[in-house]
Amino acid sequence: MRNLILGNWKMNKSSEETRAFFSEFKDLFSNSKVSFTKSNFKIGLAPSFTSLESAKNEINRNLKNQVLLGSQNIHWLESGAHTGEISPQMLKGLDVNFTIIGHSERRQFYGETNETVSLRTKAALENNFLPVVCIGETEEEYKAGKTADIVSTQIEKSLAGITSSDISSGGSLAIAYEPIWAIGTGLAASPQDAQKTHAIIREKLSTIFSSEIANNTPILYGGSVKAGNIEELSSQKDINGALVGGASLNPKDFFDLINNAKFPDS
Ligand code: PGA
Repeated sequence: MRNLILGNWKMNKSSEETRAFFSEFKDLFSNSKVSFTKSNFKIGLAPSFTSLESAKNEINRNLKNQVLLGSQNIHWLESGAHTGEISPQMLKGLDVNFTIIGHSERRQFYGETNETVSLRTKAALENNFLPVVCIGETEEEYKAGKTADIVSTQIEKSLAGITSSDISSGGSLAIAYEPIWAIGTGLAASPQDAQKTHAIIREKLSTIFSSEIANNTPILYGGSVKAGNIEELSSQKDINGALVGGASLNPKDFFDLINNAKFPDS
C-alpha cells in the first residue's frame, strides 16, 4: 500500500487524552460505517512516547489493522547513555509500525542533522519500521526559488549510507515533504507546487536507488493539511499521502480529512 495519511501529534495529549481520542475516533468509524481497510490508503497516528502504550492498547482493542502506530523519533543504538532518546528495541515492544525522522522542528530546535537523520533511518530500516524521513525548505529558501536544490540535498544527505538492499521492494521507506513555512501556519503549499516538488523528490530517489524503489516510496505532503485541502492534494500524481499535525488532534477533524482523501487508483 503506497498511500498513507499519518497524524503527528507532536507534544500533545496525555495517555488519558489519547484513550479519549481513540474512543471517539472508533465511534466515528462505526457510526458512519466507513471502512478504511477497503480504501486505497492506510491511516496512522504518532502520539508522544508516553502515550504509545495507551494508543497501542486502544488500537489492539478496537481498530486492529485499521490504524498504524508511529513514534516521533528513534535512536540508532539499542541502549546506552543517551538521556532523552528511545531505542528501536523499546519501540518494538509497543507494536510501532512507522517512525517520523528529522521533522523540521527537530532539525530547527533540537540539533537534528542530516547525519543523525541517516543513522536513525538506517536503524529504522534494520528494525522493520517504516521511516518517514522529513525534508523541506524555509520560507526564505522558498522565496529565493531554492526549493528544488534544498530538498535534493536534504534527500541525498539524509539517506547517505543507505543502499537499495536496505530498502525492501515492498516500499519500506517514506518521505515527507514539509515546507517549513506551511507547518502550523494554515498556509499549505498549492497542490500544483507540492506536486512539482514531489516529482523532483521521486526523480532524486530514482537516481540514488532505482526507479522501482522511487515508484514504491510514498512521498507524503505535510504542512497545514486539513479536510478542506486534502482532496486536491491527494489527487496529485506524486502526492501519496499526508503528514498531518494540527488537524489530527481532534477525532472529527481527522476523520473528515480521511473521508475527503481521494487518491488515484494506480
Ligand atoms: P500541521 O503540521 O499540519 O499542523 O501544519 C504538520 C507537521 O508538522 O507534520
